[in-house]
Amino acid sequence: MRAHPAGPLHADGVGSHPSLDRPVDVDAVNRIAPDVWPASCERGADGSLSVGGVDVRDAAAEYGTPLFLLDEADLRARARRFRDAYAAAGAPVVYYAAKAFLTTTIARWVAEEGLGIDVASGGELAVALRAGVPGDRLLMHGNNKSMAEIDAAVDAGVGRIVVDSFDDVVRIADAAQRAGIVQSVLVRVTVGVEAHTHEFIATAHEDQKFGLSMASGAAQEAVRRIVALPSLRFAGLHSHIGSQIFDAAGFQVAAARVVALARRLREEDGVEVAELNLGGGMGIAYLESDDPLDVADMAAQIGDIVGKECADAGMELPRLAFEPGRAIVGPTAITVYEVGTVKHVELDRGAVRTYVSVDGGMSDNIRTALYDAEYTVALASRASTAEPVLCRVVGKHCESGDVVVRDAWLPGDLAPGDLLAVAATGAYCRAMASNYNYLPRPAVVSARDGATATVLRRETIADLLALDPGA
Ligand code: LLP
Repeated sequence: MRAHPAGPLHADGVGSHPSLDRPVDVDAVNRIAPDVWPASCERGADGSLSVGGVDVRDAAAEYGTPLFLLDEADLRARARRFRDAYAAAGAPVVYYAAKAFLTTTIARWVAEEGLGIDVASGGELAVALRAGVPGDRLLMHGNNKSMAEIDAAVDAGVGRIVVDSFDDVVRIADAAQRAGIVQSVLVRVTVGVEAHTHEFIATAHEDQKFGLSMASGAAQEAVRRIVALPSLRFAGLHSHIGSQIFDAAGFQVAAARVVALARRLREEDGVEVAELNLGGGMGIAYLESDDPLDVADMAAQIGDIVGKECADAGMELPRLAFEPGRAIVGPTAITVYEVGTVKHVELDRGAVRTYVSVDGGMSDNIRTALYDAEYTVALASRASTAEPVLCRVVGKHCESGDVVVRDAWLPGDLAPGDLLAVAATGAYCRAMASNYNYLPRPAVVSARDGATATVLRRETIADLLALDPGA
């Protein structure tokens, strides 16, 4: 069974594939569905795609391929939409989950749009600080934070450190004491809910590495230890139930359980839970058939759910917080590849599959190989009226699992030198990129009002050789 971001149990449900149905007409192959592609992405009069007013052919010529081309205005608009919708639902701070994709530019943009940042390592913390984001707008996660990472967070005045183990309690208290400060902490609670798209499962236990279990009493015990330590301030509880979630049902079960713990803490320990951070996981459309709840509807539904749970428990509504990553950056970028080879492979019963090899692959997008993720791909450098053929877009790496898009209908006249664009690659693609086969990792370039700027420059082979001390 394949690994999946929401856990192995849901991997079986991934992979029903609407794009295997032959498109009804040629226009469908050239179509740029607004929910899947960046807001400014369009096909111009001569058939080529542009993002932020920049023609992909020009961007590819200037920066090379593979290239992540990012719509700055779309990213900023999404950040604002999350800030406004969740503020209206009772969350004064929304933290952008940096793991989805972080550079100093991205950190600066989301901070300018009023978001905080959730960092999960010393490296992510360093980028956020370099961008000038104030420490009190940062939150630090990690199930195995090193002492150096905790010290760096305390020194930076990180507003919230999320306790993920009993070891964390001791280490964070020690760091804060040495720094002569009182550090605010949240306790990450595993609530026994695992959610993905429209499905969720709820169990009593969670067999995974994150957080402290509610069912065993570990979470409650962590809170007791925290309130007994003068260098720590217990700020509240945290729960994160999964990723690529399309509706609020899983949040409902999680909220009910966290609120039950808050009530128990009040009744048994006299401890108030002032803040409830319900994590991230809001889903996006990778395919036209994907139908995640709209940002404002999701925020309102979760706000209502928590409000109702608190009212039932006779508690005041705690301050809420959220940590969306994918939903802010994911839809705002495309990957532009150049086609290198086109191969027609005969399958059983005379069927033919066209293998289209591009100049990147699992080193810039591991999600297809790792999670069976599905993507939308289109011919980007021109439009075509050729009959569509069933293609598999593959990379240039030395293994057969190196697939970018498993099944896609693309024009039958696709040829070497054409540019392809894969939609919704802003989250967890460049962030999870590797140098497999010694491929330099691609550049990320932003586009806005017809102008481009480098967000992350392309790696060179010289960069990679510089790590090798030589013989
Ligand atoms: N908060 C916590 C504690 C998390 O663990 C995560 C993601 C987030 C927030 C942000 O979740 P988002 O809103 O981006 O779904 N590499 C996988 C996704 C792993 C997500 C890990 N945690 C993928 O490519 O689908």
